[in-house]
Amino acid sequence: GAPVEVDASTLQPGQKVNLTWRGQPVWVIRRSEASIDALAANSDKLSDPASAVASQQPAYAQNEYRSLDAEFFVVVPICTHLGCIPSHMPQPGSLDTDWPGGFFCPCHGSRFDNAGRVYAGVPAPTNLQVPPHRIADNGTIVVG
Ligand code: FES
Repeated sequence: GAPVEVDASTLQPGQKVNLTWRGQPVWVIRRSEASIDALAANSDKLSDPASAVASQQPAYAQNEYRSLDAEFFVVVPICTHLGCIPSHMPQPGSLDTDWPGGFFCPCHGSRFDNAGRVYAGVPAPTNLQVPPHRIADNGTIVVG
């Protein structure tokens, strides 16, 4: 499929844009400063905090933000358990009082942080997939 793109400058912090690439949903999310700061705090509760499973992201997103730029997160929102679409719940406390913000799969309760990193002890085996993407000089995020 052809690449798809979005002008990142139109996104407000916390906002999400839904794209379709190769028949799959792709979300482009501008993370708030608070949700970026929260990523470091929960590392010890994650199955793969350093994104060691190479199949789940391009090498340039193999970092704690799982992105090229900490502010912009590009993800395939398909649960790595059995393929449900997780809910985007970026705000701390939006699921339960301990919830630091992230993605919640309603099918069997898998939890992911705001970088799509899976928590230990849930059914999903790996982090959410980050598709190939780049940020063009004019600030456009190109997926594919
Ligand atoms: Fe998401 Fe099972 S499909 S937890």
